[in-house]
Amino acid sequence: MARLDYESFLGGLPDAVVGVDEAFRIILWNSAAEALTGKSAPRVQGRTLKEVFAPDSSLARHLSETLRSGESRSEAEAMIEGADGRPIPVSIVTAPMAGGSGNVEAAVAVLRDLSRIRQLEEEVRRGETLATAGRMAVGLAHEIRNPLSAIRGAVQLLRKELGDEARWGEYTDVLIKEVDRVNRIIESLLDLGRPVQLRLGPLNLHQLLERVALLSEEMAASRSVRIVRRYDPSLPPILADEDGILQVFHNLVRNAIEAMPRGGRLTLTTRLSMNPLFAKVDLGTGARHLVEVQVADEGEGIPEALRGNIFDPFVTTKEHGLGLGLALCHRILEEHKGAIQVESVPGKGTTVTCFLPIAK
Ligand SMILES: Nc1ncnc2c1ncn2[C@@H]1O[C@H](COP(=O)(O)OP(=O)(O)O)[C@@H](O)[C@H]1O
Ligand SMILES: [Mg+2]
Repeated sequence: MARLDYESFLGGLPDAVVGVDEAFRIILWNSAAEALTGKSAPRVQGRTLKEVFAPDSSLARHLSETLRSGESRSEAEAMIEGADGRPIPVSIVTAPMAGGSGNVEAAVAVLRDLSRIRQLEEEVRRGETLATAGRMAVGLAHEIRNPLSAIRGAVQLLRKELGDEARWGEYTDVLIKEVDRVNRIIESLLDLGRPVQLRLGPLNLHQLLERVALLSEEMAASRSVRIVRRYDPSLPPILADEDGILQVFHNLVRNAIEAMPRGGRLTLTTRLSMNPLFAKVDLGTGARHLVEVQVADEGEGIPEALRGNIFDPFVTTKEHGLGLGLALCHRILEEHKGAIQVESVPGKGTTVTCFLPIAK
């Protein structure tokens, strides 16, 4: 009978496996545990678990209870400290290991990283919120559009009647300007709610980005923002809708510039996606690669409290913001079977990553 090589078996597991002896010293630490915690096996071997994890952490608690009681423990969602100090959601299951005499001599814990699952759940939730908001918005927008154009017409008549007396002109100008602003809001809302008719075709990503950069050049220059390009010239064309994609990058570049009132670098990066979650997609004709486009700024970052809902419509921190830019970006990328992700460090900057399928 072939002997099972436990070392390589544990090494190949996607779940982190951590074992401790009766004295709580670490005796088992597989490669998934190394990846999850950022701590190598040689570094932790022989140390006690409480030196590596906080003594009051869920992991330490479950393992010591298992050692004491000889019973298995589990927790569907606990937090542990990941490689960069950030908390990572994990599920924990522990089991006792009996020695020759039948006494509990060690305990093992299996930790499963839940962050990818949470990320996918978040994607789905976002999509649903948007669809509901979109339907509501379309209904509302149609109701508002008609009275609004009546108001605009009446104000124009009024302006004519009042002639060129400057005092009244000021008021009618404000009225028209504000009515037009409400109209623009409604147009964006309708964009959000309308099923977009994508006209997919092979597009040169870098040419598109250059068009966006050109359009934003003036705004960037006026705020001392320098646009830096890090393009991978070997990228194949993407399969995308030109107007849609221009809108996405226009919004992202604008947000980035607006985040840097005192200037800084805006970096546009392109590469083939190596992200395990968004590396390939099937549009019905077999899997194809995704490319990654990053818009990175050195701005103030996104406040922690806002992190979870920046893709929801009407979420804005700007005085004249509509809070529809990112909602639209999300919507457009979803329709391309792509994805969008945001990473932000307060005070350091924000990186938005878009994933788009290649044309093949
Ligand atoms: N690059 C960025 N840096 C910092 N905050 C950002 C960035 N992009 C978006 N945000 C935050 O997300 C909010 C929503 O963005 P968006 O949907 O484009 O709406 P708007 O730009 O109209 O506020 C912004 O108000 C801002 O608080
Ligand atoms: Mg915006």
